[in-house]
Amino acid sequence: MTEAILLVGGKGTRLRPMTVNTPKPMVPAAGVPFLTHQLARARAAGVEHIVLATSYLAEVFEPHFGDGSSLGLHLEYVTEEEPLGTGGAIRNVASRLRSGPSDPVLIFNGDILTGLDIRALVATHESSGADVSLHLTRVSDPRAYGLVPTDDTGRVTAFLEKPQTPEEIVTDQINAGAYVFRRSVIDTIPAGRPVSVERETFPGLLAAGAHLQGMVDSTYWLDLGTPAAFVRGSADLVLGRAPSPAVPGRCGDRLILPTALVAYDAKVTGGTVVGERAVVGEGARIFGSTILAGAVVEPGAVITDSLIGARSVVGARTVVTGAVIGDGARVGADNELREGVRVWCDALLPAGAVRFSSDQ
Ligand code: GDD
Ligand code: MG
Repeated sequence: MTEAILLVGGKGTRLRPMTVNTPKPMVPAAGVPFLTHQLARARAAGVEHIVLATSYLAEVFEPHFGDGSSLGLHLEYVTEEEPLGTGGAIRNVASRLRSGPSDPVLIFNGDILTGLDIRALVATHESSGADVSLHLTRVSDPRAYGLVPTDDTGRVTAFLEKPQTPEEIVTDQINAGAYVFRRSVIDTIPAGRPVSVERETFPGLLAAGAHLQGMVDSTYWLDLGTPAAFVRGSADLVLGRAPSPAVPGRCGDRLILPTALVAYDAKVTGGTVVGERAVVGEGARIFGSTILAGAVVEPGAVITDSLIGARSVVGARTVVTGAVIGDGARVGADNELREGVRVWCDALLPAGAVRFSSDQ
């Protein structure tokens, strides 16, 4: 298998700030744009040609990745005028594929960090003779995902996207967002209109008697769709829990990019990344967090499991736990920002403005 399609588009995300809602594929995870990890892993599994199917922020991919040669890949970019959905996006790039009708084509969601053995998925696809093979993983709460029950040979028996009722929750196996399609199956997706591969294509193929094969692989897997998950994923890359050939430097407790400045007595641990030109002041303690480029962490600040946006400032002694500080925001000294708080991009928070504990 030498070809892949990477899905990096979607609705409603165009106008939202970079780090406050869904992290975008170009936000650095472990020091490089998140997408780099997926591209590098596909390359390591033998993929040579990847088509990026995009519908928003498309213009940011090409200037960075170019023709892909720095990653040993040949990359192409296709931008939808209006989002075509996951299936529509796949169909929309079919003309760029060079594979023959029965060749396997790898397709993957652009927001997943995983240790999936891609070659094993292709091998399963070829040995089972399936039309489509899906990477499945197990989660405790499947409601945000596509539920995929299989029979005892691994053949998919149903595909239930975002199940809501208890009766629908018949398994803990979910669609992990990586597929191998037989090339000719891609051509059966209707062209020129939005199609959801999860809600239309997979159920339709099953109804028509097609063979969908599931491969449960319980390796590292994380959907990076929320800032909290993104921060976790970045730390896991740095710690070496999530395997990627694209992590710059050796895996360890922290990744401090060469142009960052970290005070000698600051404690930076738990897979924290300190981005380019970021500054960490004396006595600051940072655990399991992502500090993006040019951010300033003032002396004595304590940051845990948080995303600190590009060029933002975290004031002296401020405590930030499980929070997101948007790009360019300025949080004054002596604040306490806890679980789930999202400080909007460019917002200004005065010193001592938000506290959870008493000031006694
Ligand atoms: N080009 C393009 N155009 N890409 C799209 C579009 C579109 O219109 N819509 C979504 N995508 C891309 C997203 O950028 C993402 O990489 C991927 O397709 C999946 O879309 P999400 O919007 O992130 O879907 P989800 O997370 O709710 O659910 C999907 O992923 C789960 C695993 O994380 C589904 O595939 C579920 O079945 C699956 O369990
Ligand atoms: Mg997603």
